[in-house]
Amino acid sequence: MIVGKPFLSAGQIQTKVGELARAISRDYAGKNLLAVGILKGSFMFFPDLVRSIEVPLMLDFIIASSYVKSQTTGEVKIYYDVREDLSDKDVLLVDDIVDTGITLNHIRERILARAPLSLKICALLDKKERREVDVPLDYVGYVIPNHYVVGYGLDYDNKYRNLPYISIFRKKA
Ligand code: IMP
Repeated sequence: MIVGKPFLSAGQIQTKVGELARAISRDYAGKNLLAVGILKGSFMFFPDLVRSIEVPLMLDFIIASSYVKSQTTGEVKIYYDVREDLSDKDVLLVDDIVDTGITLNHIRERILARAPLSLKICALLDKKERREVDVPLDYVGYVIPNHYVVGYGLDYDNKYRNLPYISIFRKKA
């Protein structure tokens, strides 16, 4: 396996996080923002983002999984769900990467079923060409081509999440 040079450097990521946080801060002024990090993948992106958001907010998390190594199983498992009452909240789901869209669509429908005041989605990376389920994304960091990427929270078999940058992952031939 090879984890090569950065595809997105730590600096590029932080610049983008700042841009996203500024747009979110503008849009959520005067609202009742509940930012929900989708784990484990957003464990770096989510704290960086909320640290840069300049309006009051509440936090919660969802722990979800549908991948085994680099393959989606298509079945989404939820290990921890949002505990806040959503009826008076403007919910912002924060995800690392959208691939087929299956995971996020499942989570979005679960949240919508709890009737929040509003629901928007922020994703750092969008592998648009892989989409199987159409999920509306409100804030996107980078649209990327169809590569399997690791680092900055993204894993292969739960490894490489700690890299401060994002690399293209290739299995050794
Ligand atoms: P989806 O349900 O196919 O959209 O997959 C979404 C989830 O799969 C993401 O939140 C990641 O956890 C994982 N995933 C998808 N593509 C990649 C990748 O390139 N690298 C690491 N994880 C990925």
